[in-house]
Amino acid sequence: MLQQFDERNRDIKVFIKDKLHHRDEAKVSVFDSSVQGGDAVWEGLRVYPEGVVCLDKHLTRLHESAKTLAFVDIPSKKAIKEAIQKTLDANGMNDEVHIRLTLTRGEKITSGMDPRVNQNGSCLIVLAEWKPLVYDNSSGIKVISTSQRRNAPQFLDSKIHHANLLNNILAKIQANVAGKDAGLMLDERGFVAELNGSNIFMVKEGVIYTPYAHACLPGITRGTVIELCKENNIPIEEADLTLSQLYNADGVFATGTMGELTPIIEIDGRAILDKNELQQKIRSLFKNNIKGYCEKLT
Ligand SMILES: Cc1ncc(COP(=O)(O)O)c(C=O)c1O
Repeated sequence: MLQQFDERNRDIKVFIKDKLHHRDEAKVSVFDSSVQGGDAVWEGLRVYPEGVVCLDKHLTRLHESAKTLAFVDIPSKKAIKEAIQKTLDANGMNDEVHIRLTLTRGEKITSGMDPRVNQNGSCLIVLAEWKPLVYDNSSGIKVISTSQRRNAPQFLDSKIHHANLLNNILAKIQANVAGKDAGLMLDERGFVAELNGSNIFMVKEGVIYTPYAHACLPGITRGTVIELCKENNIPIEEADLTLSQLYNADGVFATGTMGELTPIIEIDGRAILDKNELQQKIRSLFKNNIKGYCEKLT
């Protein structure tokens, strides 16, 4: 699914470091770490009138990713919430909004990798856009497995939500070339990891399975689905899953803040039915609870 430009976003204001700028003027320096080396961490947030979905969990993951990358001046949760509130207020936004929240290591005094040449403090970017869910969850998506592997901890720990997304982008390019909606990435052992931008679950004989979080982002929506299953006595297991298991599943779905819960109706040309009762139950439990996961900024 190719996202389109939304006219409502033509004049949005973007928060950078400590100020709001019109989108045409919203820029970071060519010396910024994100330009120099993808040296940044990020979160995708979803806004409804009730608040931001799982806000505290997203801010914790941002903090933990930045700590792992040894950022020295990580803004407090309070400061980040204030920046988000300012941005939403400036744009009159409170519903059907996606926020791309990025924290870069900041501007360098000269180009290069060494974080010691970062002497201007980190740079927080709050980019809020009007954006419906990125997938049509009533029709579902088609995916293809890619040759591009997802990072395992011995290369670059997938638990860091960093802005160095090239291996996922290469997987997405493979999916585009094949005319499919997303790339299904395996880990270095050949087990299923995740889609290029969302986590994956399958249903088989009354049990829900999802890959261990060894080589996938431990997604917040993934965590919510696991909790929902536990609260509702639905058997849920983390496991090493193969492509063959997915092809023969009773149902497969993707999870992520950008698309919420999305049925996967085809993998590598094999049709997957979206008729499984348990899958429908989890999707409706999630839909009925989503506003309850929203947290106010102040
Ligand atoms: C690679 C990848 N997997 C999964 C997800 C879904 O995570 P979440 O549910 O926290 O949005 C994302 C979202 O950013 C992602 O980039």
